[in-house]
Amino acid sequence: MPSHPLISTHGQHWRPPLVVRALYRYLVTGRPLFGPGDNATLLHHATVDYRRGPRLRLQRRRWERLARRHAALTVPPIVAIAGQWPLVAYESALVGAAGTYAVIRARRALADRGVNRRYIDPAARTLYAAVGARYDKRRARQDVAVPDDWAPGDPVVVTLPTDMPLTAAKEKALVRAVGGRLAIQNAKGSWKRDEVRIRVDIHGTALPPAEVDMARLMEAVAAAPLTQPVAGVGPDGPVSLDYVQDSPHVALSGPAGTGKSTLLRFLMAQRMSHGVGTIFLDAKRWSHRWAHELPSDRCQYWYRIADIHNSLVAIGEELGRRIECDPSELGTFRTLDVVVEEANTLIKMLGTYWRGERRRIINEAKALKEQDMDYDEADLDPPALSPAVAAMQFGVNMGRELQMHFHVAAQRLEANIFGSNSGAAVRQSFQIRLMAQWDMALWKMLASGHEYVAWPGGKRGLWGFVQGTEFVIVRVPHLDIAQSVQLATSGQDTYGPILGQDTRVAKPSIEGGLPLSSILDTLPGQDGPRALSLDGLRTAAKRPGFPAPVDTAGRAYLYLASEVQAWRERTLS
Ligand SMILES: Nc1ncnc2c1ncn2[C@@H]1O[C@H](COP(=O)(O)OP(=O)(O)O)[C@@H](O)[C@H]1O
Ligand SMILES: [Mg+2]
Repeated sequence: MPSHPLISTHGQHWRPPLVVRALYRYLVTGRPLFGPGDNATLLHHATVDYRRGPRLRLQRRRWERLARRHAALTVPPIVAIAGQWPLVAYESALVGAAGTYAVIRARRALADRGVNRRYIDPAARTLYAAVGARYDKRRARQDVAVPDDWAPGDPVVVTLPTDMPLTAAKEKALVRAVGGRLAIQNAKGSWKRDEVRIRVDIHGTALPPAEVDMARLMEAVAAAPLTQPVAGVGPDGPVSLDYVQDSPHVALSGPAGTGKSTLLRFLMAQRMSHGVGTIFLDAKRWSHRWAHELPSDRCQYWYRIADIHNSLVAIGEELGRRIECDPSELGTFRTLDVVVEEANTLIKMLGTYWRGERRRIINEAKALKEQDMDYDEADLDPPALSPAVAAMQFGVNMGRELQMHFHVAAQRLEANIFGSNSGAAVRQSFQIRLMAQWDMALWKMLASGHEYVAWPGGKRGLWGFVQGTEFVIVRVPHLDIAQSVQLATSGQDTYGPILGQDTRVAKPSIEGGLPLSSILDTLPGQDGPRALSLDGLRTAAKRPGFPAPVDTAGRAYLYLASEVQAWRERTLS
């Protein structure tokens, strides 16, 4: 029978004397004595707090009450009779047990803290925001409870803090958002409803394997064209990057020691095996220890700041040369990869170096002027921005036509890494943006517009990047020096100088790469009613599902005829 404050359901039974009842109430059940405050007793936590400024940690009220009420009445008698040894032993055992329990609890809480802070709390906050419930940390953690051996990316059963059913679209958005914060890839949900609550089991596609299968990877590396080097192994096998895009520059961002140089080593070795010339700019000198062993027709390696400065100025001149050249000559330049290690620091160093150089140039010009000797008017006021930094900025804004690709690694790729650039400018300049150990701030800059997927944690070598509409996570292999050198020097012979041009050497084209205009007539169905025009084919090439280009010639993309034919076969059927 439901109880009602004004109706006694007990009838006229015998009841203990008032003082006993009061003591019982005071010391055992611990029910509130006066007016509204909260409803905690000694036996249960508060669930409602009537005071002003509601507290989130309501369980504290109960312990407070217990301590307060027992302090004056139970502690002094215990101390008074403490002369009796058995009682002391009993009390210390009690205190010892309570202490041990507290330590175990505290250690557990400490161990959970990282996971809670990084994954559970953000997920819970997102969950509460998604259903429009008021966020309460303790309750929310229970709603997103995970088993002890949970690892980021593992499936999770989430209880909704409301019993209101959601629309299908909202359900999907909730699963994606909450799943992303728990590092669950492409999260999908299965919903379960009973009378009491709504639960959703959130699970995703698998993460990359813990170990790289080198044999399978090397097979993929051998098959990869110049423009699609393999970055690592995804859940379903090797994953390639795509250098054939309008802004084919690569940005790598990750804290120190997360494997930026290791990933670059793998990429550069593959690119070199296709004959690409590479310039390493590495003030640390030893980031690419393996490249020191390469012959000079494969790469240049600069580490002194003056050399790096001069090299970048030369790269700037090369950009100018390629811009100014005859259209027919464009194809005779060698593809050039520029690797900029620890870009944040390097740009600051280049700035400092240039301030010194600039002063020296001005002073020399002034001295010449005073002695009435020949001097260059421009040397009296050289530009304030380092020409090396200017060349780098200019380079990353140039497109694929010039076939110069910048690879910029930084511990945290700051939005202002190139002066006044905004995050959006970094996104536009670098269309391949790789992240290790990312957080929300880095995500906003490099993967803005995509549903957040938390970094899954674990061993070094996990890298994430946006490819098309998907966010992909790969495991990068760790090649040793011998393997990298072997990979870089295998395959294609080099051709032409690294900077400048040599019109006598023909640039090798990728076998079978053809422009769409040459492939058009070989396509199936061209003599039927659904024949494609060249414009139609070019439009189709921009849509998903079309085979990726294997190379470029000037402005044109080159494709494998067999792949385009197979694509047409599929669309016709
Ligand atoms: N993909 C990987 N697999 C295994 N270990 C790695 C991987 N990437 C990096 N490491 C380890 O981390 C160390 C630092 O890597 P490094 O590439 O020099 O980092 P960064 O350039 O970001 O400072 C390497 O020496 C290696 O031991
Ligand atoms: Mg490094």
